[in-house]
Amino acid sequence: MKKLNVGIAGLGRIGKVHIESLIRDVRDVRVRSVFSPRMDNSRGIAEQYGIESVKPNYRELVNDPGIDAVLICSPTETHTEQIIAAAEAGKDIFCEKPIALSLEEIQSALDAVKSAGVHLMIGFNRRFDSQFARVRGVVESGRLGEIELLRITSRDPAPPPPEYISSSGGMFLDMTIHDFDMARYITGSEVIEVFAEARVRVDPRIGDLGDIDTAAVTLSFENGALALIDNSRRACYGYDQRLEVFGSSGMAQINNLHHEHYQVLDSDGSHGPRTMDFFMDRYAKSYSNELKAFVRSILEGAEVPVTGQDGLKAVAVGLAAKRSVQEHRPVRVSEVFS
Ligand SMILES: NC(=O)c1ccc[n+]([C@@H]2O[C@H](COP(=O)([O-])OP(=O)(O)OC[C@H]3O[C@@H](n4cnc5c(N)ncnc54)[C@H](O)[C@@H]3O)[C@@H](O)[C@H]2O)c1
Repeated sequence: MKKLNVGIAGLGRIGKVHIESLIRDVRDVRVRSVFSPRMDNSRGIAEQYGIESVKPNYRELVNDPGIDAVLICSPTETHTEQIIAAAEAGKDIFCEKPIALSLEEIQSALDAVKSAGVHLMIGFNRRFDSQFARVRGVVESGRLGEIELLRITSRDPAPPPPEYISSSGGMFLDMTIHDFDMARYITGSEVIEVFAEARVRVDPRIGDLGDIDTAAVTLSFENGALALIDNSRRACYGYDQRLEVFGSSGMAQINNLHHEHYQVLDSDGSHGPRTMDFFMDRYAKSYSNELKAFVRSILEGAEVPVTGQDGLKAVAVGLAAKRSVQEHRPVRVSEVFS
């Protein structure tokens, strides 16, 4: 079978996760070239993973005739121009979330993808976690009846560094965006209204950067369901990822995962291991699964499972959440996106 040759832009946290997943778990793919502005770091990574080519700039990466597709793992502010350049070079694209921080920028990227006729998949990896996928399957089967309520708890173990926060678009567009996508995915319905309250409870420096670190968000869906999302940038007990979906005929839950499975019972109560540390371990398999799905779609010429429209809609919900906090009122998604 033909192999898909890929180039990777951005070799930070998620770029390295994707290189490792591709090399370890994905068949029919070869990581051929990489680009990141720090050439010394790029060379080190290329050597470590046996990648043959290190490009000095993004243009040379996307115009490399030896690659069929590009994985965009660079900071969010560069995604739009990198998607457009890749589309113009005729390469299929996998881009990390969020596509960009404004709907206009996203639309310009999607227009370029459409006119080039290339594939674009967005990195909402949680859809490829076996537990979330299983619960989506249960909802889709009708076993829970009409979906009435969804609850998502999503708390990071610790905030990212200030320089990341200042270019990330803020908590709703960087972190909660996964929950907005998950809410759309699990309910199979579109969000019509958002009411969000947010605070700075973890670190005042986050507030100084104009961001928030603690949030409670209510979503209303077209199909009548409601969702509650709670977020924090700091859970002292580890990465906290839970979900509950409640319908007229039943309920499904996803709880935290642990590396070890034991319980100690003593006079102080019962004690178990910590939850998994962060996204790199909790969602490791989902990253491999999403890249398998991307590679398969491209090689088979099929529709990608997470589209540019999915990326656009999640950002629209995030922008409505931001406005809801600023204006202290429920905001209809149609106010930011029609
Ligand atoms: N899906 C997920 O679970 C997930 C997790 C983390 C990050 N992300 C997303 O991935 C993107 C990168 O996040 P990160 O945490 O890896 O950031 P990071 O800061 O750890 O890494 C960014 C990398 O991009 C490089 N870079 C800077 N400018 C560049 C350019 N113009 N072209 C190419 N590379 C450039 C940096 O040198 C660095 O290697 C963000 O959009 C973020 O939202 C997604």
